[in-house]
Amino acid sequence: MPAVDTRPPFAAIGGRVPGKWTALPTPCYLLDEGALARNAEILGDLARRTGCKVLLAQKAFSNYDLYPILAPHLAGTEASGLYEARLGAEEMPGKEVHVFCAAYRDDEMEELLRWADHIVFNSPAQLGKFGPAAKAAGKSVGLRVNPECSTQEGHAIYDPCAPGSRLGTTRAQWDAAVAQNPALPQLLDGLHFHTLCEQDSDALAVTLDAVAEKFGDLLPAMKWLNMGGGHHITRPGYDLATLERCIARAQKDWGVTVYLEPGEACALNAGFLLTRVLDVVHNGDTTVAILDASAACHMPDVIEMPYRPPLLFAADAGEKPCTVRLAGPTCLAGDVIGDYSFDAEPRPGDLLVFGDMAIYTTCKNNTFNGMPLPAILARAADGSCRVLKEFGYRDFKVRLGH
Ligand SMILES: Cc1ncc(COP(=O)(O)O)c(C=O)c1O
Repeated sequence: MPAVDTRPPFAAIGGRVPGKWTALPTPCYLLDEGALARNAEILGDLARRTGCKVLLAQKAFSNYDLYPILAPHLAGTEASGLYEARLGAEEMPGKEVHVFCAAYRDDEMEELLRWADHIVFNSPAQLGKFGPAAKAAGKSVGLRVNPECSTQEGHAIYDPCAPGSRLGTTRAQWDAAVAQNPALPQLLDGLHFHTLCEQDSDALAVTLDAVAEKFGDLLPAMKWLNMGGGHHITRPGYDLATLERCIARAQKDWGVTVYLEPGEACALNAGFLLTRVLDVVHNGDTTVAILDASAACHMPDVIEMPYRPPLLFAADAGEKPCTVRLAGPTCLAGDVIGDYSFDAEPRPGDLLVFGDMAIYTTCKNNTFNGMPLPAILARAADGSCRVLKEFGYRDFKVRLGH
C-alpha cells in the first residue's frame, strides 16, 4: 500500500485516511469545507477577473448548511424548479435566484415568481404562456436555446443536443413560433444554453460558435447570456484561458452579462463516502465485497451516468494483486459500484473511502429496500468533523404514508 494516494480527489486529506475517521459511523458522506472553499475561490476569482457571474446549480450540490462557504464568491443559485428556487432564496439570501425547468406547472407559477428573479423557459409555448406574468412581476425572462451542437460522445443521455432532444428551442422552432406570435421576442431579456457535461473549455468554444451562428442575430437585443453548467472549471488542468476568451467574446460581440451555472465545479472533489465491508464472498473467479453503502441508493450516478468513483488506495481492476467487485447490500443484482484492485483482499470491518462524493449524491439518494440514508458530516479546515444531519427509520417511513 503506498504511503499516500496523490490523486486530486484525495488531496483534501493529504492522500491518507485521517486517524479519527475510523471512529465515524458508516455509511456517511463527509463534506470537505476546505475543498469547497478552494473551489469557490477559483470561481470567485474567475468572476472578478472577467466580470461574469457564477451561480451554484443546486441539482448537483444542495447541502445548504455549507452555502455560507460558497456564497461570498457566487452571484447566487440556479434551480430546477420551485423547491430548489425556494431553497436558494432562503439559504443564499440576498443573492440571485435563477430557475430553468423543461415545463412549468400552472399551479406553481405564482409561488415561483416570489422566489426566483430570473425565469428561463424551455419552449416558445411556455414563454408565451407564462412570460407576460413573469415580466409583469418584474422578473428577468429567458429562453433556453438548443444550438444543435453535440460535443460529447457516447453519452446521449447527457446530451441536450442529441437528435429529438426536448431540451432547448432550436432556431427552426423559434422562427416558426415567432411567425405565429411576433410579440414573443419582446418578452426576452436573455438566452440560456446548457450542452456540456464534465467538459473542458474547448467544447464551450465550439458550442459558442454554434450559438453565434444560430442565435447571434438575437443576442445584441439581450441583457444576458447564460452558458449553463458542465464546465469542469475547478478540475486541475482545466483550460481557464479559453473559458475567459469565450466570456470576453460574448461580452464584446453582444454586450451581454455572462452567467455560468456549474454544479459539479462548485463541489468537485469536496466530499467522501465512507463505507465498511460487511462480507466477502467468492463465486468462481470473482471476489465480491458487500459494503454497507449501495450504488443504487447512495451513489446513483454510478449506475445512471455511469460514473466510477475513485477509491482511496485502490486501482483499476488487474492493476494491483487482488481484484475485488465492490457491491451494495440491496436486492438489486446490479447494485455494483465496480471492480477495483487492492494490495490485499479487503476484510469485513475494513473502512473504504470513496472520493468526489459531494456531487449528485446527498441530493439524489433514496431509501430503496429500506436502506438507511447515510449521515451527512462536514470536515472543517482543521480536520475536525461534525454531524450536519442524521437519518433514521422515520425518514424512510415518512415518504410512504401518513
Ligand atoms: C440547466 C442546467 N444547468 C446546470 C447544470 C449543472 O451541470 P454540472 O453539474 O455538470 O455543472 C445542469 C446539469 O444537468 C443543467 O441541466
